[in-house]
Amino acid sequence: MEKHLLFKRFGGKRLHLGVCGSIAAFKVADLVHRWQDTGAAVSATLTEAASKFVTPLTFEALGASPVYRAMFSGEAPFEHLEPGQTAHAMVIAPATADIMARLAHGRACDMLSAQALAFDGPVVIAPAMNPRMWQNPATQDNAALLRERGFIFVGPDSGLVACHDEGQGRLADLRLIYLAGLKALTPQDMEGETVMVTLGPTRETWDDVRFWTNGSTGTMGASIAVAAWLRGAEVHAVCGPLGAEGLWLPDDPAFHRHDVVSAAQMLEKSSEIWPSATMGVFTAAVADFRPVPYGGGKFKKDKAADGLHVDFLPNADILRTLAEERSEGQVVVGFAAEAVPDADALAAAVQYKLSYKGADMIVGNRIADGFGRASNRVYVADVQGREEQWPDMAKPQVAWKILDWARTLAV
Ligand code: CTP
Repeated sequence: MEKHLLFKRFGGKRLHLGVCGSIAAFKVADLVHRWQDTGAAVSATLTEAASKFVTPLTFEALGASPVYRAMFSGEAPFEHLEPGQTAHAMVIAPATADIMARLAHGRACDMLSAQALAFDGPVVIAPAMNPRMWQNPATQDNAALLRERGFIFVGPDSGLVACHDEGQGRLADLRLIYLAGLKALTPQDMEGETVMVTLGPTRETWDDVRFWTNGSTGTMGASIAVAAWLRGAEVHAVCGPLGAEGLWLPDDPAFHRHDVVSAAQMLEKSSEIWPSATMGVFTAAVADFRPVPYGGGKFKKDKAADGLHVDFLPNADILRTLAEERSEGQVVVGFAAEAVPDADALAAAVQYKLSYKGADMIVGNRIADGFGRASNRVYVADVQGREEQWPDMAKPQVAWKILDWARTLAV
């Protein structure tokens, strides 16, 4: 799993995966390991049709336990009730038109339908089918009924499907199904909050081909944005340019991604969102200076044979500007990336930024301990005088703890 999405905090939780008969069935085998990596236990049920595409052994070999097959095929008499007694959330992926019809009408004619009927926790449905089957009014009505009853839908996506038809019917991105499973396991303690996160570097253009930037990957900010969304918040991620491969973020009605390039654009977009936010987390490595633009075209090197001198102008401090403009109750979380030799120097720099920036809380790290790495060793201080040094932890774990702390600062 991509490092900003690996939340290893689901020990003691169990997800039940229901697999139906669709060519996309082979894809979901991958979910078993991904969820297990978070600490969750995974069990599975394959419908008879699913077993034509993948085998129960595939899921058993990957560590799902137990793996249920057809009704009356197992030894225990109450297998149809077991996920209802042991699992905390159920994910049906791929979900066919037929399973949706069975769920909508309370059928219990096969193992998965019976298990779903006897399950009173959250159920995620990730449909995959031919676009005409998906668009059929019967399927649409069943989906609407299930949504109304609280089933959580992920996808289907649009595009080319296996039978070469084009339209809506593709299984959603596996990462989104993975996260939907985790969200179903997560107490929605940030429901009603709107969290704005700035992340990544900014890019300041000089001529038509050259720009000034830095090596921020945006991983820390992305983990915070996803963690807040998993906990039920509405999220606005204001992203600087995140490189050719980008950084995958969930495509969901409660997760808004705003791509910007320069510090000026990041300030403009953040200012637009900020009045509606309850919390702002400023992780972006904003360029403090921008080159005075050369003007149109490409600067030719023979114009500066003896070396090049470029003038820079200061950029606005986004965190400081928005902290000044905040209304009551808005929590401001800042970061401090410091090239300092030791923990004492880091603490001093964090305390200075806490008051200079007007933040409620500053998360500081030495550049060598966090920049461009999957983990981070941070020192945290807040306006109430609390301070802590955390051990080196993966960024998603740091993200969760930052949100826990920031929530205590809301008045
Ligand atoms: N920040 C910001 N806008 C800027 C510069 C920084 O919003 N123009 C935010 C960062 O997102 C971070 C915090 O301010 O939350 C501190 O950023 P950092 O780079 O550590 O410090 P600077 O303010 O840039 O100061 P210096 O480079 O002198 O340490």
